[in-house]
Amino acid sequence: MKSLSVTLIVLLVLIAVTNAALETHLCVDMSHDTPCKGWPAGLYPVCFGCGMGFFAECQGDEATVLNCPTVQDANGYPSILMFDNVTKICVEKTDSCPEKKSCVDMAAFAPCEGLPDRRYHLCNNDCKLGYFAWCNNEKDVTIKRCTHVDDGNGGYYRLRFDTLSQSCIEESTSCASHNWSSG
Ligand SMILES: *[C@@H]1O[C@H](CO)[C@@H](O)[C@H](O)[C@H]1NC(C)=O
Ligand SMILES: *[C@@H]1O[C@H](CO)[C@@H](O)[C@H](O)[C@H]1NC(C)=O
Repeated sequence: MKSLSVTLIVLLVLIAVTNAALETHLCVDMSHDTPCKGWPAGLYPVCFGCGMGFFAECQGDEATVLNCPTVQDANGYPSILMFDNVTKICVEKTDSCPEKKSCVDMAAFAPCEGLPDRRYHLCNNDCKLGYFAWCNNEKDVTIKRCTHVDDGNGGYYRLRFDTLSQSCIEESTSCASHNWSSG
């Protein structure tokens, strides 16, 4: 009897561990050193930035970030297409991207509402200035700024926040591909 319950507990723990492993394997995490490790070659959602149209191509351990095109919606406004993981094409609406907003709007009453804990671009702010927002518990929002780096010629340059890697880097893909100051 005792060994049976031990076996059961071991089984339950195994199931929990397997589930956790599966859950972390839904999207390609560009903040990892080898984001595509363990993924068969193909197109997949990225963990951070699908709402901005980003997705990833895995080829061996090599990850390439790709970007869905921006189209005009029915009212003539620019609308970012998002990667659909089932059809593997860029579409207007998809269940594959849980991101509700692609940037934090500081003019909103609750800027971080509905946003998972992590770092975000700021809407209405030029990301080239290095600023970004950090959301915690959906209510606490902290404005942070990427550090500046000595350029070796007596000057300095500002690192830019990159949502895909969730870090401040020199060549930010997400900062380069969006006109944040237009809101
Ligand atoms: C996307 O599809 C792949 C299989 O092509 C699957 O492994 C992965 O979990 C899916 N991710 C999401 C977010 O649906
Ligand atoms: C960004 O948007 C603003 C406001 O719509 C516009 O004036 C500016 O030219 C745009 N910049 C780029 C690089 O597209």
